[in-house]
Amino acid sequence: MDVRPIGIFDSGVGGLTVVREVINAMPLEDTVYFGDTARVPYGSKSKETVTEFSRQIMRFMISKNVKAVIIACNTISSNCYDILSREFDIPIIEVVNPGVESCLKVTKTNRVGVIGTNTTINSHAYEKKLKEKREGIVVYQKPCPLFVPLAEEGFTENAIARLTAETYLRELKDKNIDSLILGCTHYPMLKKTISDYMGKDVNIVDPAAETAHKMKDYLKEHNMSGDDKKAKHVFYCSDNCGRFNEICSKNLGIECRVHKIDIERY
Ligand code: DGL
Repeated sequence: MDVRPIGIFDSGVGGLTVVREVINAMPLEDTVYFGDTARVPYGSKSKETVTEFSRQIMRFMISKNVKAVIIACNTISSNCYDILSREFDIPIIEVVNPGVESCLKVTKTNRVGVIGTNTTINSHAYEKKLKEKREGIVVYQKPCPLFVPLAEEGFTENAIARLTAETYLRELKDKNIDSLILGCTHYPMLKKTISDYMGKDVNIVDPAAETAHKMKDYLKEHNMSGDDKKAKHVFYCSDNCGRFNEICSKNLGIECRVHKIDIERY
């Protein structure tokens, strides 16, 4: 048994969609969350910059004595996972492989779409892994960078969100896909808007639940599960805590008081 918390991080509030699934799958585990709200978005930055930011966050997580880390960010997962797992001696679960596996479970036609940030889409991580695991699969990719500020702003189901979805997703709608991977952890906040536009015949694939189960299985296999009767969830961000609190409480249904930290000190 290991009662230390699980560390979870993202560029901002997007990773809370993963925290929600972690709490569902492992209600007895404590968590520590960090959202880099001062430097969001990551998805328009270079791999080098995102790697440097991620190293700071990993050092912060280790200072909080976490037993394992979930990279609740596709941009970091698709660009920096190999580097971080080489450099840090701690179990790390990322979100791209769980997204690929979830998609392969539901697609029947093997015609799928992937949406994500520019830096995720440019890495081709989803496309490569889908093609490695399923011969003949057809993958259409589309970056949707504006979904991130919309989610950070809480504009997830209004007219601006609907128009943005229509503008980005129009070309995917013509491609006859049966599944669409939400390859950015902010996007599940716009799930209803995205799904309404794509139509009920398209499976909307959110990697979060599968990611949480990967962590659960890992902890079980390594005898590292916790048993806190009243699990504690602690949140940190690097700027604009008030906004974070609102979105956090809305998404997790719990009252949260986020602490501000200077991530550049780590
Ligand atoms: N939520 C992140 C992701 O999954 C990053 C979004 C951003 O900061 O651009 O890619």
